[in-house]
Amino acid sequence: MTPFLEIRGLYKRFGSVQALAGVDLDIHNGEVLGLLGDNGAGKSTLIKTISGVHKPTAGTLRCEAREVAISSPSVARSLGIETVFQDLALIPNLDAAANLFIGRELSYGPFKGLLRVMRDKAMEDDLRRCLERLDIHIPSLRMHVDGFSGGQRQAIAIARAIRWKAKLVILDEPTAALSVPEQRKVLSLTRQLASEGIAVIYITHNILDVLAVTDRIVILHRGRKAAELRTKDTTEHQIVSLIMGGARKPNEELKG
Ligand SMILES: Nc1ncnc2c1ncn2[C@@H]1O[C@H](COP(=O)(O)OP(=O)(O)O)[C@@H](O)[C@H]1O
Ligand SMILES: [Mg+2]
Repeated sequence: MTPFLEIRGLYKRFGSVQALAGVDLDIHNGEVLGLLGDNGAGKSTLIKTISGVHKPTAGTLRCEAREVAISSPSVARSLGIETVFQDLALIPNLDAAANLFIGRELSYGPFKGLLRVMRDKAMEDDLRRCLERLDIHIPSLRMHVDGFSGGQRQAIAIARAIRWKAKLVILDEPTAALSVPEQRKVLSLTRQLASEGIAVIYITHNILDVLAVTDRIVILHRGRKAAELRTKDTTEHQIVSLIMGGARKPNEELKG
Protein backbone atom coordinates (compact mmCIF):
# COMPACT_ATOMS: atom_id res chain seq x y z
CA MET A 1 0.00 0.00 0.00
CA THR A 2 1.30 3.47 -0.84
CA PRO A 3 2.10 5.39 2.35
CA PHE A 4 0.15 8.61 2.91
CA LEU A 5 3.43 10.45 3.30
CA GLU A 6 6.93 9.42 2.25
CA ILE A 7 9.84 11.41 3.65
CA ARG A 8 13.20 10.88 2.00
CA GLY A 9 16.60 12.30 2.92
CA LEU A 10 15.20 15.13 4.98
CA TYR A 11 17.74 17.66 6.23
CA LYS A 12 17.13 20.84 8.18
CA ARG A 13 19.88 23.14 9.31
CA PHE A 14 19.52 26.19 11.56
CA GLY A 15 22.80 28.08 11.24
CA SER A 16 25.38 25.70 12.66
CA VAL A 17 22.80 23.31 14.13
CA GLN A 18 21.92 20.28 12.02
CA ALA A 19 18.44 19.63 13.42
CA LEU A 20 17.60 16.87 10.90
CA ALA A 21 20.33 14.89 9.16
CA GLY A 22 18.85 12.64 6.49
CA VAL A 23 15.58 11.27 7.84
CA ASP A 24 13.63 8.66 5.82
CA LEU A 25 10.15 7.89 7.08
CA ASP A 26 6.89 6.42 5.77
CA ILE A 27 3.59 7.35 7.36
CA HIS A 28 0.63 5.06 6.72
CA ASN A 29 -3.12 5.57 6.81
CA GLY A 30 -4.81 4.01 9.82
CA GLU A 31 -1.59 3.77 11.80
CA VAL A 32 -0.46 5.57 14.95
CA LEU A 33 3.24 6.28 14.66
CA GLY A 34 5.00 7.24 17.89
CA LEU A 35 7.77 9.80 17.38
CA LEU A 36 10.23 9.73 20.24
CA GLY A 37 13.59 11.18 21.14
CA ASP A 38 15.36 13.17 23.80
CA ASN A 39 15.07 16.97 23.94
CA GLY A 40 16.74 18.44 20.87
CA ALA A 41 16.51 15.18 18.89
CA GLY A 42 14.61 16.92 16.09
CA LYS A 43 10.99 15.84 16.70
CA SER A 44 9.48 19.32 16.55
CA THR A 45 11.60 20.25 13.56
CA LEU A 46 10.39 17.14 11.73
CA ILE A 47 6.71 17.83 12.33
CA LYS A 48 7.12 21.53 11.59
CA THR A 49 8.60 20.57 8.24
CA ILE A 50 5.66 18.28 7.51
CA SER A 51 3.17 20.93 8.60
CA GLY A 52 4.63 23.71 6.49
CA VAL A 53 6.21 25.79 9.26
CA HIS A 54 9.83 25.08 8.23
CA LYS A 55 11.25 24.70 4.75
CA PRO A 56 13.64 21.72 4.58
CA THR A 57 17.28 22.33 3.69
CA ALA A 58 17.17 19.20 1.51
CA GLY A 59 15.02 16.14 0.93
CA THR A 60 11.76 15.16 -0.70
CA LEU A 61 8.22 14.68 0.53
CA ARG A 62 5.68 12.61 -1.37
CA CYS A 63 2.04 12.80 -0.34
CA GLU A 64 -0.20 10.06 -1.77
CA ALA A 65 2.57 9.23 -4.26
CA ARG A 66 2.87 12.82 -5.52
CA GLU A 67 5.94 14.93 -4.79
CA VAL A 68 4.91 18.01 -2.82
CA ALA A 69 6.48 21.18 -1.46
CA ILE A 70 4.74 21.92 1.84
CA SER A 71 5.59 25.59 1.74
CA SER A 72 3.06 26.85 4.29
CA PRO A 73 0.61 25.60 6.92
CA SER A 74 -2.25 26.21 4.51
CA VAL A 75 -0.61 23.96 1.90
CA ALA A 76 -0.30 21.30 4.62
CA ARG A 77 -3.99 21.68 5.49
CA SER A 78 -4.99 21.44 1.83
CA LEU A 79 -3.16 18.09 1.71
CA GLY A 80 -5.14 16.92 4.75
CA ILE A 81 -2.37 17.41 7.30
CA GLU A 82 -3.61 18.82 10.63
CA THR A 83 -1.22 19.55 13.45
CA VAL A 84 -2.35 19.92 17.04
CA PHE A 85 0.47 21.87 18.64
CA GLN A 86 0.53 21.59 22.39
CA ASP A 87 0.07 25.28 23.20
CA LEU A 88 -1.28 26.77 20.02
CA ALA A 89 -4.10 24.30 19.48
CA LEU A 90 -6.94 26.77 19.94
CA ILE A 91 -7.67 30.49 20.13
CA PRO A 92 -8.48 31.08 23.82
CA ASN A 93 -10.93 33.97 23.57
CA LEU A 94 -13.24 32.29 21.06
CA ASP A 95 -15.89 29.71 21.79
CA ALA A 96 -15.59 26.07 20.73
CA ALA A 97 -17.72 26.47 17.58
CA ALA A 98 -15.61 29.41 16.38
CA ASN A 99 -12.47 27.37 17.06
CA LEU A 100 -13.86 24.48 15.02
CA PHE A 101 -14.16 26.81 12.03
CA ILE A 102 -11.07 28.99 12.32
CA GLY A 103 -10.07 30.14 8.86
CA ARG A 104 -12.99 28.21 7.36
CA GLU A 105 -16.08 30.00 8.67
CA LEU A 106 -19.26 29.03 6.91
CA SER A 107 -19.99 31.66 4.35
CA TYR A 108 -23.25 33.57 4.08
CA GLY A 109 -21.78 36.68 2.47
CA PRO A 110 -21.35 39.79 4.65
CA PHE A 111 -22.01 38.70 8.21
CA LYS A 112 -24.75 41.06 9.34
CA GLY A 113 -27.88 40.62 11.39
CA LEU A 114 -29.87 37.52 10.56
CA LEU A 115 -27.18 36.05 8.29
CA ARG A 116 -24.73 36.16 11.15
CA VAL A 117 -27.20 34.46 13.48
CA MET A 118 -27.81 31.73 10.88
CA ARG A 119 -24.11 31.20 10.38
CA ASP A 120 -23.44 30.94 14.12
CA LYS A 121 -26.34 28.51 14.52
CA ALA A 122 -25.05 26.33 11.65
CA MET A 123 -21.53 26.25 13.13
CA GLU A 124 -22.93 25.38 16.55
CA ASP A 125 -25.05 22.53 15.11
CA ASP A 126 -22.04 21.24 13.26
CA LEU A 127 -19.95 21.30 16.44
CA ARG A 128 -22.69 19.56 18.43
CA ARG A 129 -22.87 16.70 15.88
CA CYS A 130 -19.12 16.39 15.88
CA LEU A 131 -18.89 16.25 19.70
CA GLU A 132 -21.72 13.71 19.94
CA ARG A 133 -20.06 11.45 17.44
CA LEU A 134 -16.80 11.51 19.39
CA ASP A 135 -18.51 11.40 22.79
CA ILE A 136 -16.75 14.61 23.87
CA HIS A 137 -18.34 16.65 26.66
CA ILE A 138 -17.65 20.36 27.15
CA PRO A 139 -19.14 22.80 29.67
CA SER A 140 -20.87 24.96 27.06
CA LEU A 141 -20.85 25.44 23.31
CA ARG A 142 -20.76 29.21 23.71
CA MET A 143 -18.09 29.53 26.41
CA HIS A 144 -14.64 30.80 25.44
CA VAL A 145 -12.28 27.84 25.33
CA ASP A 146 -9.87 29.42 27.84
CA GLY A 147 -12.46 28.30 30.42
CA PHE A 148 -12.02 24.69 29.29
CA SER A 149 -9.73 22.13 30.86
CA GLY A 150 -6.60 21.05 28.96
CA GLY A 151 -8.30 17.80 27.96
CA GLN A 152 -11.37 19.57 26.66
CA ARG A 153 -9.20 21.89 24.55
CA GLN A 154 -7.23 18.95 23.21
CA ALA A 155 -10.49 17.13 22.40
CA ILE A 156 -11.82 20.15 20.46
CA ALA A 157 -8.56 20.32 18.51
CA ILE A 158 -8.89 16.62 17.63
CA ALA A 159 -12.57 17.13 16.74
CA ARG A 160 -11.49 19.89 14.37
CA ALA A 161 -9.07 17.53 12.62
CA ILE A 162 -11.85 14.98 12.15
CA ARG A 163 -14.40 17.61 11.12
CA TRP A 164 -12.17 18.76 8.28
CA LYS A 165 -11.42 15.20 7.18
CA ALA A 166 -7.75 15.27 7.98
CA LYS A 167 -5.74 12.40 6.51
CA LEU A 168 -2.77 12.89 8.82
CA VAL A 169 -3.11 14.25 12.35
CA ILE A 170 0.02 15.22 14.25
CA LEU A 171 -0.31 15.37 18.03
CA ASP A 172 2.59 17.01 19.89
CA GLU A 173 2.63 15.95 23.56
CA PRO A 174 -1.17 15.80 23.69
CA THR A 175 -1.49 14.43 27.22
CA ALA A 176 1.34 16.37 28.87
CA ALA A 177 -0.84 18.73 30.91
CA LEU A 178 -3.89 16.52 31.43
CA SER A 179 -5.55 14.72 34.31
CA VAL A 180 -5.59 10.92 34.14
CA PRO A 181 -9.21 10.58 32.87
CA GLU A 182 -8.51 13.25 30.25
CA GLN A 183 -5.35 11.42 29.17
CA ARG A 184 -7.45 8.30 28.67
CA LYS A 185 -9.92 10.21 26.55
CA VAL A 186 -7.15 11.58 24.31
CA LEU A 187 -5.69 8.08 23.92
CA SER A 188 -9.08 6.70 22.92
CA LEU A 189 -9.66 9.58 20.47
CA THR A 190 -6.24 8.83 19.00
CA ARG A 191 -7.20 5.19 18.39
CA GLN A 192 -10.49 6.39 16.93
CA LEU A 193 -8.63 8.57 14.43
CA ALA A 194 -6.61 5.54 13.31
CA SER A 195 -9.70 3.32 13.10
CA GLU A 196 -11.20 5.87 10.68
CA GLY A 197 -8.18 5.38 8.41
CA ILE A 198 -6.40 8.54 9.48
CA ALA A 199 -2.61 8.47 9.89
CA VAL A 200 -1.47 9.77 13.27
CA ILE A 201 1.96 10.95 14.41
CA TYR A 202 2.05 10.94 18.18
CA ILE A 203 4.87 12.74 19.99
CA THR A 204 5.28 12.08 23.68
CA HIS A 205 7.74 11.48 26.48
CA ASN A 206 5.29 9.14 28.18
CA ILE A 207 6.44 5.59 27.44
CA LEU A 208 3.23 4.06 28.80
CA ASP A 209 1.20 6.17 26.35
CA VAL A 210 3.51 5.01 23.58
CA LEU A 211 2.95 1.36 24.44
CA ALA A 212 -0.81 1.91 24.81
CA VAL A 213 -1.56 3.86 21.68
CA THR A 214 1.05 3.41 18.93
CA ASP A 215 1.44 0.72 16.27
CA ARG A 216 4.97 1.67 15.34
CA ILE A 217 7.72 3.73 16.93
CA VAL A 218 10.43 5.86 15.40
CA ILE A 219 13.17 7.16 17.64
CA LEU A 220 15.19 10.19 16.64
CA HIS A 221 18.64 10.82 18.01
CA ARG A 222 20.56 13.98 17.10
CA GLY A 223 18.56 14.53 13.94
CA ARG A 224 18.85 10.95 12.69
CA LYS A 225 16.52 8.00 12.81
CA ALA A 226 18.04 5.79 15.49
CA ALA A 227 15.42 3.05 15.43
CA GLU A 228 12.15 2.00 13.88
CA LEU A 229 10.19 -0.62 15.82
CA ARG A 230 6.86 -2.39 15.96
CA THR A 231 5.27 -1.47 19.28
CA LYS A 232 4.10 -5.00 20.02
CA ASP A 233 7.67 -6.33 19.71
CA THR A 234 9.12 -3.62 21.96
CA THR A 235 9.70 -3.19 25.67
CA GLU A 236 9.72 -0.08 27.81
CA HIS A 237 13.37 -0.73 28.66
CA GLN A 238 14.37 -0.99 24.99
CA ILE A 239 12.62 2.28 24.15
CA VAL A 240 14.26 4.14 27.01
CA SER A 241 17.75 2.97 26.14
CA LEU A 242 17.28 3.88 22.47
CA ILE A 243 16.06 7.35 23.43
CA MET A 244 19.07 7.84 25.69
CA GLY A 245 21.73 6.41 23.47
CA GLY A 246 20.43 6.17 19.94
CA ALA A 247 21.51 3.12 17.93
CA ARG A 248 25.00 4.32 17.14
CA LYS A 249 27.71 1.76 16.73
CA PRO A 250 30.56 2.34 19.22
CA ASN A 251 32.95 3.91 16.70
CA GLU A 252 30.39 5.84 14.66
CA GLU A 253 30.90 9.04 16.60
CA LEU A 254 34.61 9.08 15.75
CA LYS A 255 33.77 9.29 12.06
CA GLY A 256 31.47 12.25 12.81
N1 LIG B 1 14.00 27.80 15.04
C1 LIG B 1 15.18 27.28 15.43
N2 LIG B 1 16.33 27.97 15.32
C2 LIG B 1 17.51 27.45 15.69
N3 LIG B 1 17.68 26.21 16.17
C3 LIG B 1 16.58 25.46 16.31
C4 LIG B 1 15.26 25.94 15.95
N4 LIG B 1 14.37 24.96 16.18
C5 LIG B 1 15.06 23.92 16.67
N5 LIG B 1 16.39 24.21 16.75
C6 LIG B 1 17.45 23.30 17.19
O1 LIG B 1 17.33 22.11 16.44
C7 LIG B 1 17.57 20.96 17.27
C8 LIG B 1 16.33 20.08 17.27
O2 LIG B 1 15.31 20.74 17.99
P1 LIG B 1 13.81 20.23 18.09
O3 LIG B 1 13.36 19.82 16.74
O4 LIG B 1 13.02 21.27 18.79
O5 LIG B 1 13.96 18.94 19.02
P2 LIG B 1 12.88 18.17 19.90
O6 LIG B 1 11.52 18.63 19.47
O7 LIG B 1 13.13 16.72 19.59
O8 LIG B 1 13.17 18.49 21.31
C9 LIG B 1 17.93 21.51 18.64
O9 LIG B 1 19.34 21.58 18.72
C10 LIG B 1 17.31 22.89 18.64
O10 LIG B 1 17.99 23.75 19.50
MG1 LIG C 1 9.99 19.56 20.62
